[in-house]
Amino acid sequence: MLDFRGKDILDGAQFTREELEYIMDVAENLRNRLNRHHSLSIMQGYVLGSLFFEPSTRTRLSFEMAMHRLGGSVVGFATAAESSVAKGESLADTIRTVDQYVDLIVLRHPQVGAAREAADAALAPVINGGDGTGQHPTQALLDLLTIRAERGRVDGNTIVLCGDLKHGRTVHAGVELYKHYGCTLILVAPEELKMPPEITGRLRARGVSVEETADLEAALAKADVIYMTRIQKERFEDPAEYERLKGRYVLTREMVERINPGLTILHPLPRVDEITTDVDTLPGAAYFRQARNGVFIRMALIGLIMGKL
Ligand code: NCD
Repeated sequence: MLDFRGKDILDGAQFTREELEYIMDVAENLRNRLNRHHSLSIMQGYVLGSLFFEPSTRTRLSFEMAMHRLGGSVVGFATAAESSVAKGESLADTIRTVDQYVDLIVLRHPQVGAAREAADAALAPVINGGDGTGQHPTQALLDLLTIRAERGRVDGNTIVLCGDLKHGRTVHAGVELYKHYGCTLILVAPEELKMPPEITGRLRARGVSVEETADLEAALAKADVIYMTRIQKERFEDPAEYERLKGRYVLTREMVERINPGLTILHPLPRVDEITTDVDTLPGAAYFRQARNGVFIRMALIGLIMGKL
């Protein structure tokens, strides 16, 4: 039995393969239990603090749903403007205060390293719901579960990661999980938005097969899974640079049907224009099922961290 009690979830690199498998198994088990019961009561009396300093639809709502479906409750805020940070309070003071009220904290924040800072300030466990361009480990876990569910296994898949690989925290976290599964990674990005070389260097030093190209169609021909990402507009200092790069890669139904009809298509969402809506009805278009898996992964993490599963 693995022990997650009291642990912080900060970074995709913190997990062993054994832990990843265990979390996914617990999440699938919860999905099956929810088919029979609308909600469970294992977290009754426990409270999640949901602190979102950046916009979110899926991460915030699926964390809150996860806590509700486990029988627990949630307090928090959805924008920095709703919190005393708007009055000039520091992150550490906000966290130290919320720590007096809740049993577990999920934090989304624009600054890289904010979740670690919060974990240092709080006695309660902290889950990183996205720290700037840094990490987004719970998204990476639900992506991994979706690949396993859609393809039957994670091992040996060729995964194309496409879009804003420089600023995308979901891909920064994701590669730290895929490295345990002998996956071939093909990174497709404009020169300006390539995966940071310290990440690719580390992967290659570990023996992960990492290919970098600007040619999406050539990559698609070799892929089992494509993971499309949005160009992260809010991370650009120069709006003109965003305007120049947006729309560079667009996955269309025509491309999938012509090049690789068996492709599994993932996207952390929100989508802007990088997957045309006519892709949505293809059998391999898994991005809304992927979003649903977020509830089960987050239920598993909450239950495991609080020692209830
Ligand atoms: C992602 C994020 O916030 O990093 N969204 C999410 O959590 N599902 C991806 C994005 O915003 O592009």
